[in-house]
Amino acid sequence: MRKLLHLSDLHFGRVDLSLVESIVDLAQQLAPDLVVVSGDFTQRARRNQFEAARAFLDRLPEPRLVVPGNHDIPLWDVVRRFLSPLGRYRRYITRDLAPFFHDEEIAVLGINTARSLTRKYGRINVQQIAHAREVFADVEKQIVKVVVTHHPFDLPPGTRHHLVGRSAMAMEGLAAAGVDLILSGHLHLQHTGLTATRYRIEGYSALIAQTGTTTSTRGRGEANSFNFIRIETDRIAIEPYLWQPAREKFAATPTQRFDRAPSGWVRA
Ligand SMILES: [Fe+2]
Ligand SMILES: [Fe+2]
Repeated sequence: MRKLLHLSDLHFGRVDLSLVESIVDLAQQLAPDLVVVSGDFTQRARRNQFEAARAFLDRLPEPRLVVPGNHDIPLWDVVRRFLSPLGRYRRYITRDLAPFFHDEEIAVLGINTARSLTRKYGRINVQQIAHAREVFADVEKQIVKVVVTHHPFDLPPGTRHHLVGRSAMAMEGLAAAGVDLILSGHLHLQHTGLTATRYRIEGYSALIAQTGTTTSTRGRGEANSFNFIRIETDRIAIEPYLWQPAREKFAATPTQRFDRAPSGWVRA
């Protein structure tokens, strides 16, 4: 069994420091095998915001796998936005824009969906999907395959947002690669779903888990959150943690369980 701590949308520059400290403590207690951060490290891609995000990352357990979000590309600094959109991200967070973690039980690939032009909505491209297929082709069948993106492949029911650009093309490729689980952020909403609901692909259903903003004050009405995920070959359990202001702590909410079936992943 592998334990993943999935954080997202930190937004340094607009963080609540009590949440930051709480996460550092919990990360030690939960002792994850891998910490995942699905983008938006900063609020405006400023240098001091990246410095604070870097300092926070350094306090989390290793190994860590991270991808950038749209807020990690400068918005107003147009020169930097187009000439070196992820320059600061690469300098302060990581140079690796396609990080890959692989052990005997899980294989996790980060895909960068942040773009200068379609800044808010993000995009995935054919080369990235080809790379994912190549990487996962070398991974043994029983190993659970996970993809991490900032922008979402699914939306909570009743919300009006955008899916990541080229999501249908990407999903065909992820299906061919046998991806089991997709982790995203961006919406600042906690959500779990199955790809089969939105993408009709014969014999394929992957699990989608999105977490809300873990540390920022831009919760859009929803409590701050993160997901604690337990992964076994045929079973995945997602335990969302929500911030409880009155108790000043993150508390676990009921675990959502999923099983591997012949048709793909289903709710247990
Ligand atoms: Fe965000
Ligand atoms: Fe975002």
